[in-house]
Amino acid sequence: RKAIAVMTSGGDAPGMNANVRAIVRTAIFKGCRAFVVMEGYSGLVHGGPEYIKEVNWEDVRGWSSEGGTNIGTARCMEFKERKGRLLGAQHLIEAGVDALIVCGGDGSLTGADLFRSEWPSLIDELLKTNRITEEQHTRYKHLNICGTVGSIDNDMSTTDATIGAYSALDRICKAIDYVEATANSHSRAFVVEVMGRNCGWLALLAGIATSADYILIPEKPASSREWQDQMCDIVSKHRKRGKRTTIVIIAEGAIANDLTPISSADVHKVLVDRLGLDTRITTLGHVQRGGTAVAYDRILATLQGVEAVNAVLDTTPDTPSPLIAINENKITRKPLVESVKLTKSVADAIKAKDFKKAMALRDTE
Ligand code: F6P
Repeated sequence: RKAIAVMTSGGDAPGMNANVRAIVRTAIFKGCRAFVVMEGYSGLVHGGPEYIKEVNWEDVRGWSSEGGTNIGTARCMEFKERKGRLLGAQHLIEAGVDALIVCGGDGSLTGADLFRSEWPSLIDELLKTNRITEEQHTRYKHLNICGTVGSIDNDMSTTDATIGAYSALDRICKAIDYVEATANSHSRAFVVEVMGRNCGWLALLAGIATSADYILIPEKPASSREWQDQMCDIVSKHRKRGKRTTIVIIAEGAIANDLTPISSADVHKVLVDRLGLDTRITTLGHVQRGGTAVAYDRILATLQGVEAVNAVLDTTPDTPSPLIAINENKITRKPLVESVKLTKSVADAIKAKDFKKAMALRDTE
């Protein structure tokens, strides 16, 4: 019987539990053994039955609706070193695992693919240093890897949505609705800072959904002069028309076109100094990431979990590791390496101040 393990890695995202549940249950349904790796890549580095646990059907009961990730997650430094990956390989072989499904963001999936490509040399070294037997070396010649994308940031190329993004968006919109009421009472302006790392998806979509006055995202950097003038122009127009509230949403990764970060304090200062508005800053922080998943994320995570198991069972040493995506409402498989590469090339284009290229790359996704 094949043994399939699942782990969650990087920042938690609502829907990760639904993804783990679907993977565990599909694996068992297909006649495989199911394992969970606790605490992300740290669990692989630690090894042992406490960290690489066999689970059964009942162990994941009720997980679709639970927020966060019940199997833990970590941003693991040791796994970035070959020494850590060597331990990871040894521990997976000791546990008898044939395939690994990683639910995480681009960093976690890059780690997964590196692990897969290094696998032959890792197991050679394990054999040479007598940490595995000849028999294990032959039996675990190839590690099947598959990625499902769990991140609130929605920053992975080649998929329309990442698991958790719509839950975070929902949370942001609700928080802004609350802020609106108090802003209206005092006729105040609010600068609302949202997460997203270097991606403006959460800020942009929340801005549209809440009819914010102005949105600052990393993908559309302008000179300080330009964004300040444009924001003040729009806000004062709205105020002149009798609007009592001003909401400016800023992505945490917002930058000007010289790549200097724009902070919520910068925006606050402009609203106070140039428009004389009574202004407050609300940084939403981790409330965006916590709590239960919205229905969309539960469904996405479940459908992708089923597909991830199908994909690892189909993958041969010659087929590239798949990433489970959603495109135009269909669950799809994409080559993991290509998706990660494309995601990185958008970030690289922004770093090189080639904003046109960054936008074009985003459009080709
Ligand atoms: O990648 C998800 C995310 O929530 C980002 O939006 C944010 O920048 C980061 O993780 C926060 O990380 P941490 O929880 O480690 O502070």
